[in-house]
Amino acid sequence: MQESMLSSRRSPPFPGEEGQEGGDDESKTRKNASFGARVFVSARSALSGQCAAISIFLFLLFVSVASFVLSRSFSAVCVSPYDPSTRALLFRATLDGLASDFGSLGVPWCRSKQGKTVEWTRKDLLKGLEEFVPIYETRPIKNNMYGMGFDHSFGLWFMARWLKPDLMIESGAFKGHSTWVLRQAMPETRIISLSPRHPGKYLKKGPAYVDQNCTYFAGKEFVDFGSVDWGNAIKKHGISDLSRVLVFFDDHQNELKRLKEALNAGFQHLIFEDNYDTGTGDHYSLRQICDQYYIRGGGHSCFIGSDEARIRMKRKKFWEKAVDRDELCGSGENWWGVQGYMRDNFNHSNKAISYEEHFQNSRFVESVLDVYWELPPVAGPSLTHQTRYDPARASDPIIEDGRFGLFQRLGLTKFETSVFNGYTQMVYLQVSPPTS
Ligand SMILES: C[S@@+](CC[C@H](N)C(=O)[O-])C[C@H]1O[C@@H](n2cnc3c(N)ncnc32)[C@H](O)[C@@H]1O
Repeated sequence: MQESMLSSRRSPPFPGEEGQEGGDDESKTRKNASFGARVFVSARSALSGQCAAISIFLFLLFVSVASFVLSRSFSAVCVSPYDPSTRALLFRATLDGLASDFGSLGVPWCRSKQGKTVEWTRKDLLKGLEEFVPIYETRPIKNNMYGMGFDHSFGLWFMARWLKPDLMIESGAFKGHSTWVLRQAMPETRIISLSPRHPGKYLKKGPAYVDQNCTYFAGKEFVDFGSVDWGNAIKKHGISDLSRVLVFFDDHQNELKRLKEALNAGFQHLIFEDNYDTGTGDHYSLRQICDQYYIRGGGHSCFIGSDEARIRMKRKKFWEKAVDRDELCGSGENWWGVQGYMRDNFNHSNKAISYEEHFQNSRFVESVLDVYWELPPVAGPSLTHQTRYDPARASDPIIEDGRFGLFQRLGLTKFETSVFNGYTQMVYLQVSPPTS
């Protein structure tokens, strides 16, 4: 919460993301384009030389090897990639660049005013995981379908515990799992929870969590976050310093709308649970807003013959939530948000926006942003067996693929694999009013 928790290092949130300015989306395509280009250029120069016959032979040899490798990858595609028994084939496909090559399709991020990032490191996250696993085992709601899974529960717990707020506000409680997570992080801190349905209502049908030190704006008392008289509510909770308040959103509302409401109320520390990737999700997210050509890892090509379209098509067969070109791009090749739409309220409201408006939204976000930090996935898919999010659009996991010993030592093998299936780039923001 304090200034001291933030360093002013200019290092980006994730490796390889420095160099913010300049050009369009080369970072995503360069790797693949250069592969094709290398084949073409080397074949052409060889043919023009004296050793044409040898070159043709080598080129044909290369083509045969490439088709063999491709046929292996297609056979892997044909045997139900989501079936656990075919996971071995899936990870063999890593060799073809199809599987857990984290970040290979770009990981867009939001630029902050001073280039600050968070104080915690990957080492801190690993240490946190060690502490969190036994806590998560005691969760009252074992099956939290439609709510948070392991990755985001850990992220919320870790950040709340690190920031040590004097008050925690949550919007979107469902059965109360996230309220329980906040309580584990800060046993004595007051919580305000807003949700149309009171979590206590779910108790009649099965496990739910109602906190004893929480003010619920729920059920008949429900008020939307944007309509609460926050000055009054905060005062009633004995808070005078708004920099000591942490706000957590899991209410599937347009995040630009929520950001503006939070700024109006004077809040500075925000966590958004579902920071959906471009082309996905039921509300306009920070990740979508900042996915811009001028950001390294941002922007998209809707050209049917592009490398991006080809790679996306392949990846779609491996990851349930991977987005192919047809899903990404709408009419007029609009790709921002979801096919050019700014979704809100669980996609019940869906407004078309122009690219210019989308671009201005990113400029606004940058003008209020002090820190943007996306939680990395907890572990690579060969360990978690997650089948949903596409690693190509995520940063490196805390526990990398292949580190089974560590994954097991931390006790993560105890959990059902379904708890790892809900990662959607949870994000922490520190914000302040725009500087004029
Ligand atoms: C995905 S669930 C929240 C899951 C919960 N945080 C967890 O981890 O278990 C979304 C919740 O937001 C609630 N919701 C819908 N509209 C809302 C609004 N305007 N403000 C707050 N919550 C809202 C829904 O009723 C639902 O309980």
